[in-house]
Amino acid sequence: MTTTSKPPAASAVEQNVYKVFPNDLNSKYTVFGGLVMSLCDRTALIVAERHSGKTCVTAAVDSLNFLAPARAGDTLVVKAAVNRSWRSSMEIGVHVAAEDSFSGDTRHVVSAYLTFVALDEAGKPASVPAVAPQSDVETKRYEEAGERRAIRLAARSR
Ligand SMILES: CC(C)(COP(=O)(O)OP(=O)(O)OC[C@H]1O[C@@H](n2cnc3c(N)ncnc32)[C@H](O)[C@@H]1OP(=O)(O)O)[C@@H](O)C(=O)NCCC(=O)NCCS
Repeated sequence: MTTTSKPPAASAVEQNVYKVFPNDLNSKYTVFGGLVMSLCDRTALIVAERHSGKTCVTAAVDSLNFLAPARAGDTLVVKAAVNRSWRSSMEIGVHVAAEDSFSGDTRHVVSAYLTFVALDEAGKPASVPAVAPQSDVETKRYEEAGERRAIRLAARSR
């Protein structure tokens, strides 16, 4: 039986950590942006597959903003949760911080919104459970996700 709705906490990734080594750096000796993007995509994929219970693919990435650099020795701490779902698609919000594990200082490095689509065994979009927000913050994310979807789909049809 398909669950009709699930709270974000049921699928959220609270903390995916990645220790930065020198081979993760760009020529400016800060963390290569593609590494952070990949971490965001992988972490969000886990949320999408937990929420839907199905294989998912990335359909779109929007608002991926690099706010501060991360450096060798930092620990990247990735958090992700589903904001809202529609028939077969889900918006996942991702937050990445760089932590100095000696001092405990953290910097907000990236925020991003990714859209995933769940697929059935034939590789066609498949229905997913609704998201049932449980808190004011989750309700705000749910509502704002609706506004972002409208912009996303308008851009897609251009
Ligand atoms: C994403 C994909 C499955 C959509 O398939 P499609 O045949 O276009 O299916 P539909 O038009 O019926 O769209 C299915 C859902 O995806 C959503 N969608 C598709 N493209 C989207 C986009 N650019 N932004 C947001 N949502 C999108 C649709 O709104 C729809 O959502 P809903 O069912 O919740 O209403 C298909 O385009 C695909 O396989 N893309 C490649 C995915 C991939 O390889 N990702 C890895 C990239 S490296």
